[in-house]
Amino acid sequence: MHGRRSLARGLAACLLLAGPATAKATEDPAETLYRDKTCIACHGPKGVEARLVFPSLAGQNKTYIYNQTRDIIGGKRLGSPDGSGRPATAGMREALVAPNGEVRISDGEIRRIAAWLERLPPAQPSNRQAVDPTAVEAGRKAYKKRKCQICHGRDGRRPLKRYPFIAGQKKAYLVRQMTDIKAKIRTNGKTGVMRASIRQTTAAEIEAIAAYLSRIDRSGN
Ligand code: HEC
Ligand code: HEC
Repeated sequence: MHGRRSLARGLAACLLLAGPATAKATEDPAETLYRDKTCIACHGPKGVEARLVFPSLAGQNKTYIYNQTRDIIGGKRLGSPDGSGRPATAGMREALVAPNGEVRISDGEIRRIAAWLERLPPAQPSNRQAVDPTAVEAGRKAYKKRKCQICHGRDGRRPLKRYPFIAGQKKAYLVRQMTDIKAKIRTNGKTGVMRASIRQTTAAEIEAIAAYLSRIDRSGN
C-alpha cells in the first residue's frame, strides 16, 4: 500500500516536472503523445533515464516495443512482484487502463510512440551503476557459453529481426527479466524460444551477464 502511494506520488511529481501537456512548436507529435500518455513519468524523457529499475526504451525495436506494450496492457506480461508486492507491470497497466477496463491508448498511438522511440539514441551505460570488472568478464564468458548471441547478437547489439536489444539496458532490469523468463513468470510473446538457453544459466551467471550487458555502449551501432 505504501509503495503504491509513493509510486503514485512519484508519478504526479514527474508529470509536474514534465510540465503541461501542451506541445512545444518543435516537438515531434509522437513525443507529445509519449508525454500525454504518461510514459515519460516512468520511462524518462526521450526514453532514457527511466525511474528506479524501469527499462530504457530509446533505440529499442519498434515492433518489440509495440508487442510488449500491448501484452502489458492486456495482462499477458505480469512479472515478479516489485517493492509494493504487486507484479512489476501493474503500475504501467493502471496508467493505461481505467478501472472500468477502458484502454486509454489506441493501437495506432502505441505504434507512433514505438516508431519514435526506435529512432532515439539509446541510453548511455550509466556511470551510477557500480559494476565489478570481474563480474563483467565472467558475464562476457557466460553470454557466449549460453549462446545468447545466436538471437541477441554479439554483445547484445545485433539481435535477430524484431528481437530486443539487450545491450546497455539497466542491470537490475536485465536480472529481473532473465530470472522471470527462466522461472516462467514471464511467458508472453516469443519468450519461449529462449527458455532452453536460459534454463541452463545459473543465478550467478545471470548476475554476471547483466553486469556485462549493462556496460555496453550501443551508440556506435
Ligand atoms: C507507472 C509507470 C509506467 C508507465 C506510466 C509506463 N510504463 Fe512501461 N514499464 C514500466 C515498468 C515498471 C516496466 C517493466 C516491468 C517489468 O520489470 O517487467 C515497463 C515496461 C515497458 C516495456 C517493455 C520494455 C522491454 O524492454 O521489454 C515497454 C515497451 C513499455 N513499458 C512501454 C511503455 C509505454 C509506451 C508507455 C506509455 C504509453 C509506458 N510504458 C508507460 C512502467 C511504466
Ligand atoms: C533462441 C533465441 C534466443 C536465445 C538463445 C536467447 N534469447 Fe533472450 N530473448 C529472445 C526473444 C525472442 C526475446 C523477447 C521475448 C518476447 O517476445 O517477449 C528475448 C528476451 C530477452 C530479455 C528481455 C529483454 C527486455 O527488454 O525485456 C533478456 C534480458 C534476454 N532475452 C537475455 C538473454 C540472455 C542473457 C540469453 C542467453 C542466456 C538469451 N536471452 C538467449 C530470444 C533469445
